[in-house]
Amino acid sequence: MTELKHSDAVSLRGIRKRYGAVTAVAGVDLRIGPGEVVALLGPNGAGKSTTVDIMLGLRAPDTGQAELFGTRPRAALDAGSVGAVLQTGELIPGARVGELLTAIAALQPHPLPIGQVAETAGVADLLKRRTDRLSGGQAQRVRFALALLGDPSLLVLDEPTAGLDVASRRDFWASVRGFAAAGRTVLFSTHYLEEADEIADRIVLIDRGRVVADGPTTAIRAMAAARTVRCTLPGADRAALAELPGATNVEVHGDAVLVRTTDSDATLRALVTGYPQARDIEVAAAALTDAFLALTRPDAPAEVA
Ligand SMILES: Nc1ncnc2c1ncn2[C@@H]1O[C@H](COP(=O)(O)OP(=O)(O)OP(=O)(O)O)[C@@H](O)[C@H]1O
Ligand SMILES: [Mg+2]
Repeated sequence: MTELKHSDAVSLRGIRKRYGAVTAVAGVDLRIGPGEVVALLGPNGAGKSTTVDIMLGLRAPDTGQAELFGTRPRAALDAGSVGAVLQTGELIPGARVGELLTAIAALQPHPLPIGQVAETAGVADLLKRRTDRLSGGQAQRVRFALALLGDPSLLVLDEPTAGLDVASRRDFWASVRGFAAAGRTVLFSTHYLEEADEIADRIVLIDRGRVVADGPTTAIRAMAAARTVRCTLPGADRAALAELPGATNVEVHGDAVLVRTTDSDATLRALVTGYPQARDIEVAAAALTDAFLALTRPDAPAEVA
């Protein structure tokens, strides 16, 4: 691992990118410190890949600046400071996996031993296999091996577990954790809150080309665990309902009551017991986007900067 004395592993400032009428990235600012493990979480088309590609210098932004370790992305890549697994991109067809790893290692200023990388990425038994005869999951593991070869300080992974089965996913994340445990930086994109929750220290939610929330995983998890309980309750008393166990917020609109709660089971039991006249009771998971948006409100919990 190269020692790079710079405060930010990743710095994106005012990044915008349009494709014709489509605004893929609508003004993203993002700083990631060394040693952070960050999930870029967002739905299809949110702008994750575009952001990642700009971060890596593979696409030029319309406006804004991207730096890795205080330098231009391409310079950081050439220095072997950055390894990436991209969502698109083919492995050179016809080559054998071992040959491919050897060739790419030769381009790296400070490569790791191929055997070690193959072991870490779970491709040790694939070295003699041709790259065009790999399954989707195997090819993805080879891409991971290629990303690790240069012994990078920063790993950028765009939906790295797409196509991996459960066991491969688990092994993959164990390797990433091992990588991060040495104080290195990881940024990965995903659609899955569970994956972000399990792996990342920090979650950045991106939606329609913007960062709509950015906070510690613990805070995001708490928000995402929230439920809403709705019911019809004539003459509802907002203050009394706020005393229901687990309730964090109560809205009353005429006979319609909405209780946000961190413990819907307890809330529901107390509601049914204490208010037998309540009807049309519904419990729903708070929408993830709502949870994230709640984080960005001015009255959001203080620990979420
Ligand atoms: N080369 C391109 N030409 C035109 N439009 C593009 C191009 N690449 C991306 N887009 C559009 O930009 C938007 C953001 O796409 P992007 O691939 O960054 O999203 P994403 O968050 O990575 O989505 P996914 O989760 O599906 O991978 C989408 O509306 C997409 O259709
Ligand atoms: Mg993508």
